[in-house]
Amino acid sequence: MTRLILFPHRRRGARRPPPARCPRRRPRSQLLRRPVPSRHRYAGSVPFDLRNQPVDRRSEAALAARGLGYRSVDPSDRAGLDAWAQADQRGFHHLRPTESDLEHERRIFAERRVHGVYDPTGAEPAIPVATISSWPTGLSMPGGRSVDAWAISSVTVAPTHRRRGIARAMVEAELRDAVEAGAAVAVLTVSEATIYGRFGFSPAARAATVVVDRRRAVWKGPDAPGRTHLVDPRSLRDAAPQIIRRAVARTPGEIDRWPVLLDRVLGLIDPESEGARRTRAIRYDDQHGETQGFVTYRITREPDRPGVLEFDFMAAATDDAERALWRALVEVDFIGSVRGTLRSVEEPLPWLLEDPRAVSVEEVLDHLWVRVLDPVAALGTRRYGVAGSLTLEVDDPLGHAAGTFELEVSNGGRAEVRRVEASEASPSSSRRSRRAGGIRLGVPELGAILLGDVRPSTLARAGRIGDAGALELADAMFATRKAPQLSIWF
Ligand SMILES: CC(C)(COP(=O)(O)OP(=O)(O)OC[C@H]1O[C@@H](n2cnc3c(N)ncnc32)[C@H](O)[C@@H]1OP(=O)(O)O)[C@@H](O)C(=O)NCCC(=O)NCCS
Repeated sequence: MTRLILFPHRRRGARRPPPARCPRRRPRSQLLRRPVPSRHRYAGSVPFDLRNQPVDRRSEAALAARGLGYRSVDPSDRAGLDAWAQADQRGFHHLRPTESDLEHERRIFAERRVHGVYDPTGAEPAIPVATISSWPTGLSMPGGRSVDAWAISSVTVAPTHRRRGIARAMVEAELRDAVEAGAAVAVLTVSEATIYGRFGFSPAARAATVVVDRRRAVWKGPDAPGRTHLVDPRSLRDAAPQIIRRAVARTPGEIDRWPVLLDRVLGLIDPESEGARRTRAIRYDDQHGETQGFVTYRITREPDRPGVLEFDFMAAATDDAERALWRALVEVDFIGSVRGTLRSVEEPLPWLLEDPRAVSVEEVLDHLWVRVLDPVAALGTRRYGVAGSLTLEVDDPLGHAAGTFELEVSNGGRAEVRRVEASEASPSSSRRSRRAGGIRLGVPELGAILLGDVRPSTLARAGRIGDAGALELADAMFATRKAPQLSIWF
């Protein structure tokens, strides 16, 4: 059977294009260029058929040696997918899914690759003892380009089978498949921050929970030129994907494909559920009447008490839209506080209010975790803060990203990146290496600085980056105009 090649221009063994001074927008694979067939899909999600792909042979053999079967779940096998979804829900300690939940899960997982580990000796052998899912996506980089990424989710192992290396077998298989498919990075969000560092992942975009004391929130920011409208969330189905796509492109750390996300955000999974009926939406149209953003929110309150307005998804394609939506939220009457989760750690809101202390940050979470697989592609796609030459010596126990890389950034902030081959000893290249200062780091640290979430010098203070004479330059180069942010869980 053929192996998985979703980003064919970048598959292992393929001739790499010569490094460009300003990297071109790399061609996307045919699979990634397919049109979006459903108006319900999130920001360009793409159907892809991975059902015929074999599971990773190494992990299959390792699990078979423990009496376990490692299998791909065919999304058209309804009973098999429902059993897998039961295990996934159980693994995260969720309620047993209702028929409507299962219906939603079937739609999500029809657009992902779904794998399970099965124990034929268990009491319920049709229900997997471990689950994992994945799909190809784009990850927004500083400067507005997108890099080919492999999103991983649904990692669960039944308590009866924990700590036997099942998660390790599945995650390492995903990383090998991601490399095979041509992804430059793997990405995930985590339940616990102690699990994925060992596989080379690192927090790369934090998320803040921002709370606004409504009584102190007096707007002093500029008026947006357009206007806001209260709308039925369902009316956003058509406009939302385009807005989300633009909002994602302007924010490093956002991913551009998450099947069926829109239904969740708009409260359409089970429209009769209490959560869905509580969901309200505000839309912002610019001065030309073009929709530029929306936010969905819920208000809960005790009888005769001001309510709490909570939101976890705002899509703003322009700064005007972002300001107007924040203003609409903090000016809702009969509200004690506004609570936004998965917000940027550099939210401009305090600068828009008379009393900046009306805004407090309740929590800052590591949120997006990144694992670099191909440093040339990952580093070459982003824009840098200043011009300069930097050598990065990357250590990677799994081997995918190990090597020495030369980063040459021009005045426009664009980079030329090249791997320095061990055998390379041309006088010009060694002269160039000597000229360039360097840093030494592990692959998790490379993921941590990639989107600008943490300064290299902060990691050096933590003893996690070795300075070979270029820390100050590295700080300036990796600095970004906008803090990275991921505004969804996956
Ligand atoms: C997290 C989980 C998938 C781990 O599965 P597992 O099969 O027990 O993990 P493994 O046996 O493959 O362990 C691999 C390594 O990770 C470590 N590890 C596993 N789970 C860990 C945890 N929760 N915290 C810290 N370390 C953990 C193991 O000690 C082992 O370390 P080592 O190889 O360096 O000695 C499982 O505990 C689980 O399902 N948890 C609940 C759901 C969840 O949180 N999933 C993660 C979603 S992001």
